[in-house]
Amino acid sequence: MAAKMNFAVYLQQFHENGYTVIPNFVGDADIDAMKATIARLVDQMDPHEYSQHVFRPAAKDGKHRDDYFMSSGDKICYFFEPDAVDEHGGLLREKRSALNKIGHALGWLEPAFKNVTFSQKMQALCRQLGLVDPRLVQSMYIFKNPEIGQEVLPHQDSTFLYTDPPSGLLGFWIPLDDATTDNGCLYFIPGSQHVPPTSRFVRNPDPQSTELTQLIGSQPDYAWDRFEAAPAPKGSLVLIHGNVVHRSKKNTSHSQRNVYTFHLVDYGKSAYSAQNWLQPTTECPFPNLYNERII
Ligand code: FE2
Repeated sequence: MAAKMNFAVYLQQFHENGYTVIPNFVGDADIDAMKATIARLVDQMDPHEYSQHVFRPAAKDGKHRDDYFMSSGDKICYFFEPDAVDEHGGLLREKRSALNKIGHALGWLEPAFKNVTFSQKMQALCRQLGLVDPRLVQSMYIFKNPEIGQEVLPHQDSTFLYTDPPSGLLGFWIPLDDATTDNGCLYFIPGSQHVPPTSRFVRNPDPQSTELTQLIGSQPDYAWDRFEAAPAPKGSLVLIHGNVVHRSKKNTSHSQRNVYTFHLVDYGKSAYSAQNWLQPTTECPFPNLYNERII
């Protein structure tokens, strides 16, 4: 039975390198259900309503001036690729292939994603990781569409979702297509999880400012030769330490690289920063992964 799986060999890799790839974690039926949900959401979405919202990973200047992004933590929100939208918000390609991501509460609001997030297998993995009180803080679908799926610069996830100590954050990254070096798989600096975040992405404490966030500190220039590729087959789970440095290249191939990804914070061992851009709400109160009984 899935819940009795022993993940010890992968957890050893995770503790050594700051990441690991666990194959065959999510089955085809769940993948099909997630893709069908996304097809429905995109079909229902009117691009004229949302296409002015483009997403630039790691917000190069650290500044968001857009309340749509800032209030997306408990909703289904749509973000487009910069290369797919003209200066007036008009789409330059068909809406399905123009999206960057949908977030940030898919794993809480949509059953197909909730089933995977709160599955017994996921709970068993979290218990073997020693998580005491894992809370779902964010969940999203990333398209990485052919030819325009943009590069993600080197970063530590704990820059954006800071905890004290910063080891309290974990990323879960599930490719719904084979993620390869051609279509934008992740690259990691093994062992870099031992260094706390070099920068912090926080809410701007100045209520008068039009800049809703700030990037405090700097992101170092990491040499490419320090990174190793982590190709991951469809249905695998890439487990990501909150401090490990990672990146991905632009998808210049003709194949899509769709991913479902979410982040947990272990409230049993760390405190979630009130300065983070993303905060719990009544609609999405950062649910405990162990309290849901889905499957
Ligand atoms: Fe990341």
